[in-house]
Amino acid sequence: MQAETVQKKRMLSGIKPSGELTLGSYLGAIKHWSARAEEFDCYYFMADLHAITVRQNPADLRRRTLEQLAQYIACGLDPQRNTLFIQSHVHQHAELGWVLNCYAMFGELSRMTQFKDKSAKNADNINGGLFTYPSLMAADILLYLPDFVPVGEDQKQHVELCHTIARRFNGIYGEVFKLPKPYVPKVGARIMSLTNPVAKMSKSEDADSGRVLLMDPPEQIMRQFKRAITDSDTENCVRYDKENKPGVANLMTIYSAVTGKSFEQIEAEFAGKGYGVFKPAVGEAVVEALRPIREEAAHLMKDKAYLEGVYRAGAEKASREAEKTLRKVYKKVGLLAK
Ligand code: TYM
Repeated sequence: MQAETVQKKRMLSGIKPSGELTLGSYLGAIKHWSARAEEFDCYYFMADLHAITVRQNPADLRRRTLEQLAQYIACGLDPQRNTLFIQSHVHQHAELGWVLNCYAMFGELSRMTQFKDKSAKNADNINGGLFTYPSLMAADILLYLPDFVPVGEDQKQHVELCHTIARRFNGIYGEVFKLPKPYVPKVGARIMSLTNPVAKMSKSEDADSGRVLLMDPPEQIMRQFKRAITDSDTENCVRYDKENKPGVANLMTIYSAVTGKSFEQIEAEFAGKGYGVFKPAVGEAVVEALRPIREEAAHLMKDKAYLEGVYRAGAEKASREAEKTLRKVYKKVGLLAK
């Protein structure tokens, strides 16, 4: 037998435990991660350091961080095949984040859409962490030299800035960092609110904002879909037209992402039928897709010792990898070794 010589490509991504995971986080991110464990060497984490750029209730943040780990596993991220860890447990993230701050320009950081949006929403707390958020995110990525960074549409700009910073650093010190490719899914990269289909479905908004949570019970999910905003069309109303029918396009995207059906197949399935049939059908498909995840996550939350074992082992492995890159960076920039 021939020995395995091919090095697997590496994939890395994270989610902030700043709110309960939504259908958007699942369809835009986690669903695509879990499909790749065979092919890639995968690192996924809870971005708790990023979460505190907006004020958090400490007890809720701790609870959500653990729940998020349970949900990652329940979504199919097997801890035996994926390195699952908590960002703050791997000190190298904050350390490289600081170094990269010195290579990220004020103008670049000011132009980030997320910074502008979050500053508008948190006018009384536009803190330095919110501003330098992309440098820490660049550190999260560059420490592990990944080939791909799977993210939803809204995080693409941050991955691009990570490239800019890495290229600048490499330009001065030689090829230290690998430039990863953002991997944005074709369907589901931007799931919109069910009640305001021109705004992203967000975990930091309240329950009335048209979001669906991964852990919502079936009745709640059905209620949210039945009250989803569509339009006043009655004939052939289930058509994909993002410009003129954003609510319907969003529901079709969700239905397509959970069932694997194409937009043409969905249009054919609901030809001649109204929203009274379409909306509950999407709700039911989502309920069935999320049911096993919700049940497994609830089951895992009962075994805290198991979850602790997973995140400790994950941090240990991640830290070993991260340390190699951090040492190299410290040396390159001229920090004296200990
Ligand atoms: P976060 O926590 O806002 O979102 C996590 C992931 O879910 C995707 N996402 C969505 N996709 C489709 N539709 C939606 N409505 C939706 N809402 C969220 C996001 O695009 C993201 O992929 N800064 C990151 C976390 C992070 C990170 C990293 C990611 C920190 N360090 C390093 C990748 C690599 C964030 O706030 O994601």
